[in-house]
Formats: sequence, C-alpha cells, structure tokens
Amino acid sequence: MTNKTVVITGTTDGIGLATVRDLLLEGATVIAVARNKKKAARVAKELNNDRLTFVFGDLSLQSEVVKIADQIKTLLDERHVALHVLIHVAGAVSSKRVLTSEGIEWQFAVNHLAPFLLTKLLMPYLLQEKGARVLVVSSGAHRVGRVHFQNIMFKHGYFLITVYAQSKLMNVLFVKESASRIDPSLISFYALDPGLVKTGLGVKKTFGLEKWAWEYQVKKGVDPSVPAHYFTGIALDPSYALKSGLYWKNGVEVKPSKRAENKKDAKRLYELTDKLCETK
Ligand SMILES: NC(=O)c1ccc[n+]([C@@H]2O[C@H](COP(=O)([O-])OP(=O)(O)OC[C@H]3O[C@@H](n4cnc5c(N)ncnc54)[C@H](OP(=O)(O)O)[C@@H]3O)[C@@H](O)[C@H]2O)c1
Repeated sequence: MTNKTVVITGTTDGIGLATVRDLLLEGATVIAVARNKKKAARVAKELNNDRLTFVFGDLSLQSEVVKIADQIKTLLDERHVALHVLIHVAGAVSSKRVLTSEGIEWQFAVNHLAPFLLTKLLMPYLLQEKGARVLVVSSGAHRVGRVHFQNIMFKHGYFLITVYAQSKLMNVLFVKESASRIDPSLISFYALDPGLVKTGLGVKKTFGLEKWAWEYQVKKGVDPSVPAHYFTGIALDPSYALKSGLYWKNGVEVKPSKRAENKKDAKRLYELTDKLCETK
C-alpha cells in the first residue's frame, strides 16, 4: 500500500476512471480532475472512498487549467503534502475543426497544451519531494504523426487522424524534452501507450465515417482495466523509478517513432508551447 498523492485527469470515463479505481486500491490519495460535475458525482458515489477528491474545469481552456491548478494547490497546501505523481489521461478527438474561446485549435488545446500547462503550474509541488513522476498518455497513433510547425493549429488541411496523431506525437516529445531538462532523481517523465482500448473516445465529437470507423475498430480493444493496471504500476512501483524520458506499452519500454526521438523538434515544440503558456 502506498501513501502517495496522485493528481490525474480524464477521470470520469474510460482509461482514466479505471486508473483512479486501481490507484485507490493501491492506497493512493487521488485528486481527480473532471469537467462534468454530474459524471464526477456518479463516480464518487460508485467508488465511495474518502481518499478521492474531485476538482473541476475544462482542460481545453488555459484559463480553466489555471483554475484547476489553483484548486489542486489549495488542497495540497491544506493537507501539507507534496505532489508525488501527476497523470495526464484526458484526451479527445474531433471530426470538425473547432477553435476554443481562447482561439486555440481544440485537440491541440486538450491533448497537448493542457498537460504542458498543468505540469508547469504544479512544478513547485512536484519538486517538494524527490522522486516525483509525471505520466503522459500518448498513443500508437503518434507513429503516423508529425509536427506541422508552420500549421500547428491546422488552419488548413484539418483531418481528425492527422491532428490527433500530431498531438500524441507532441505528448512523447514533451516527455523527452522534460526528461532532458530535469534531473530524474527529482522528477521522472513517462510516455504511455495504452494500446487499443474499448472506450467512447472516438464517438463523443465525431460523425460519419470517422465515428463508424471507431465503433468498428474499438470492438477489438481491451478493457480499460488493462492499461489502468500498467499505468498504476508505472505511477507507483519502485521498479519504474528514474526511468525518465521513455515510452511504455503494457508496462514494457518500447521504442517510439523516429520523429519522437528528434531532439531538435522536442526543444522547438517545448519553447513554442511555453511561449503560448507565457501569460499563465
Ligand atoms: N481508447 C483507446 O483505444 C486509446 C488508444 C490510445 C490512446 N488513448 C488515449 O487515452 C486517453 C484516455 O482516452 P479514453 O479512451 O479513456 O477516452 P474517454 O473514455 O473519452 O475518456 C477521456 C476522458 O478525458 C476527459 N476529457 C476530455 N476532454 C476534456 C476536457 N476538455 N476537459 C476535461 N476533461 C476532458 C473526458 O471527460 P468526460 O467524461 O466528461 O467525457 C474523459 O473523462 C486519451 O489521452 C487518449 O488519447 C486511448
């Protein structure tokens, strides 16, 4: 049993919800980020555990990410605890190009900007004790992705899988660059590939062929409890300590794509993202 404090996003559905369940079973204290209060209330009722607390906000908006971080900081301060593990699970896809009210392409905002900014805002709490971990859920889809530096928000050429694959490649590049900047004895960063998992990811904001393709494909996926088990291990198990900057599938280190190993791109993306988050 662990006495770690874990912050996790994407907790009201799919892989994130299954991971919350596992983390609680392992004894962790969980601060769960959610956007939907009704869904969170249902989860809280079902899990019925006083080590689970929800904080609320929409991760597609940087202003809301700041508010989420503030709620988390207040809880950590009140409890006089450090943040031991931060897990970015929340993710989304959309058939249509949507701009947030802050003028950011929506998939880029949820899948890449939010993990970057939330990590940045919680950094002082991650640094309070040695050996913190940051886990970022990427996807095998990163292998068909590339970073479109000249068209990062897809003003033209928007296509669901191209945009999603870019954001999931960004997750790996973020992990790699963060790992190169921070001593792993302080914080280690992990990119996670859950494989194909039976969730509603591909039906929430999709239509037509894309929705149909997800419904067809996902039948072959595993139950969310499968990646949740591996994610919990990487979050808490001492055997994963210090293994910063690596890509993990089914609890085993595997090589990501060649583009994910491009150090120049990782640095460029980090600096560009940091600039976008500058005012926060
Ligand atoms: N399923 C797969 O086969 C698969 C494969 C590779 C990678 N992944 C990755 O795994 C992660 C989890 O996906 P999943 O399959 O479990 O999908 P899911 O069942 O749709 O869960 C996604 C979670 O993220 C939350 N979320 C989405 N947008 C948000 C926002 N703007 N603000 C706050 N929370 C938000 C959702 O909230 P609601 O409950 O309110 O919708 C939900 O709790 C994603 O990063 C995804 O890219 C999944």
